[in-house]
Amino acid sequence: MCGIVGYIGPKQAQEILLEGLSKLEYRGYDSAGLAVYNGETIGVQKSKGRLSELEARLKSRSLPGNLGIGHTRWATHGKPSDENSHPHVDQEQRFAVVHNGIIENYLELKEELQAKGRVFTSETDTEVIAHLLADLWDGDLVSTVQKVVARLEGAYALGIISEHEPDKMVAVRLASPLIVGVGEGENFIASDIPAILKHTRDIYVVEDGEMAVITREGVQLMKTDGTPVQRDTLHVDWDVVTAEKGGYDHFMLKEIYEQPKAIRDTMAGRIKDGQVDLSREIGMSEDQINNIERIHIVACGTAYHAGLVGKYVIEDLVRIPVETDIASEYRYRNPIITPNTLVVVISQSGETADTLAALREAKKAGARVLAITNVVGSSVAREADDVIITWAGPEIAVASTKAYTSQLIAIYLLGAYFARIRGTRAESELADIVTALQQLPEKADQVLGNTTAIQQFAQEIARHEDLFFLGRGLDYAVALEGSLKLKEITYIHSEAYAAGELKHGTLALIEEGVPVISLATQEAIYDKMVSNIIEVKARGAHVLGLALEGDQELHKSVDQVFTIPKTLPLLTPVLAVIPLQLIAYYACVARGYDVDKPRNLAKSVTVE
Ligand code: AGP
Repeated sequence: MCGIVGYIGPKQAQEILLEGLSKLEYRGYDSAGLAVYNGETIGVQKSKGRLSELEARLKSRSLPGNLGIGHTRWATHGKPSDENSHPHVDQEQRFAVVHNGIIENYLELKEELQAKGRVFTSETDTEVIAHLLADLWDGDLVSTVQKVVARLEGAYALGIISEHEPDKMVAVRLASPLIVGVGEGENFIASDIPAILKHTRDIYVVEDGEMAVITREGVQLMKTDGTPVQRDTLHVDWDVVTAEKGGYDHFMLKEIYEQPKAIRDTMAGRIKDGQVDLSREIGMSEDQINNIERIHIVACGTAYHAGLVGKYVIEDLVRIPVETDIASEYRYRNPIITPNTLVVVISQSGETADTLAALREAKKAGARVLAITNVVGSSVAREADDVIITWAGPEIAVASTKAYTSQLIAIYLLGAYFARIRGTRAESELADIVTALQQLPEKADQVLGNTTAIQQFAQEIARHEDLFFLGRGLDYAVALEGSLKLKEITYIHSEAYAAGELKHGTLALIEEGVPVISLATQEAIYDKMVSNIIEVKARGAHVLGLALEGDQELHKSVDQVFTIPKTLPLLTPVLAVIPLQLIAYYACVARGYDVDKPRNLAKSVTVE
C-alpha cells in the first residue's frame, strides 16, 4: 500500500505533489520521489526514508514544471532504497511511472525486456512498466498505455507522464484505489482523498479496469480498451483527518475493515494453477525442506498468537513437531537447535527487539531462519535467510488486526507449500485448502457486514472490569488474541483459557454475571466445548457463544450467539478473530479511551 499523486496545471507541481504526499504517508513512508516535466525533459528526485529526506534533496536540486507525479512507498518488492523508490523511468527517461499495488508477472516481463537489452536499475516490480512503455511506444501515449496494461497481471493504480506528450497525464486502476481531483484549469490524481482536499472537493472515483486521461482543461474516463465512461463527480465534505482514516473514526476500525484486502493481497502471486508456490521467497531446496526435523515459531504479542495457530496448522499439514515460543523467553532459554531446525520468526514491524534477538540466537546456533513480516527491509527481513512478506500495508493503530490475519494467511501458505513438497497431504486436499483460502476475503466481508449484535454485546461488557475468553484447540489460540485485543485498548482485566483447563482452578473465578466469550467453531471438539460452556453457565456466567453459520445447538447453552461463515476448521481463526477485534474496538469506544494509541504501549517495541 503506497500513495501516488499527480498534478497538471499552471502552478509549480513540486510543492503541490509534496503537500499531497504528506497527506498520504499513512499509506507508506519508507521512501518517496517526484518526477516533473520542466518543459523539455522529465526531472526525477527520489530518496529512501521519510518525505523530509526528499524535501531536503529538493532544496539542493528542485524540479521546476507544471506536470508531475509523486509517490510515497510501502515496499513490497525490493527493500527501501533510493534505487527502489518511485517514480521509475525507462532508460531514455522519456516515461515516468508511479505505482501502488503488486505486478504479479513482473519477473517474466523483466526477463523478456532484459533479453531485448533493457537495463534495470531497481529490484521493484514497477520498473517493468517504464521499460514496457518505451518498448511498446507507438507514437500515442494513451494507446501505448493500453498496450502495456494488457500485459500486466496483478493490482495497480498507475500515474504516468511522458516527455512525448507533456500536455497530459494518464492514470490507470485495477484493484488499487485511484481518484481524479477536478480543479479550475488544473487537475489532480491521487490514491486517496486527503492528498487533494486542499485544492478541490470534486473528484472522480476511477473504477477497476478504467483509465483517465487528464489535461489542464479536462478529464476523460474510459475503460482500458478505450470504451468511453460517463460519470458524475463526487463532492467530498470530509476533513483531512477523517479522510486519512478513509471515513472511519479510527485507524483500528479502518484496518479491521481492510482485512479482506490484506488477506487477498497476501495470497497475490503465491498461488499458481491452484497450488501454493513460495519458491521465490523460500530459498530452501526440496531436500532441505524434506530434511527439516523440527520447527520453532518465535514472536511477541499478537504475532506470537499467530504463531500458536501456526503450530496447529503446520503439525496438522506437514507432520513436523512445532514449538511455539515467546521471543523474550526463547532468547534466554538455550533452546535445542539442530542443523535441521527451522526457526520461523513472526513480526509485523520487523523491529521488535526480543524477536530480533531470538532470530540472532537461532542463527548463531546454526538454524535456518524464515521470517514472516509486514515490513520489507526491516531488521528481521534483512537478517533472516528467507522472508515471507505479509502484504497488509502499513498498520497504524497500536492494536494489531490486519497484520494478524495476514500472518495467518502466510502460515497457511507455508503449511500448504511444505505439505506439497514433503507429500504429507494429497494434491486434492491441498487443492481444497487453496480453494477455501481464496474464499476467505469474501467470507471476511460477510462477517464485517453484520456487526450490530457484536456492537451491542461490546457496549454491555464495557461496564465490566473482568472477563474471560474460552476455547479449545485453534479456538483457544484465537481466544488468546481476542483477550489481548480487549486488554490492550479497554484496560478490562481479561483472561483466555483452554476450556478443558477451567475445572483445574479458574472455574473458581466464575460468578454471577461475569461475562464469558466462548468460541465453539471447531467441529471435532464441539461437544467438549459445549460441556465446558455449560460448566460456566451453571456458575452464573453471562456467555456470548461464537459458532459457525447453521449451528442449531449452541443457543441452548449461552445467552447470545454470534455466527461466522463456515470454512475449513484450520482456516476458521481468520474469521473467528474478527468479531473479537470488533468487541474490543466498540468496548473501547464505549469506555471513551484512545483506540489507536492506548496507554503504556508502542506500535513497535524496539527495546528489551
Ligand atoms: C498487538 O496488538 C500489539 N501491538 C503487540 O502485542 C505486538 O503484536 C507485539 O509488540 C509484536 O509486534 P511485532 O509483530 O511488530 O513484532
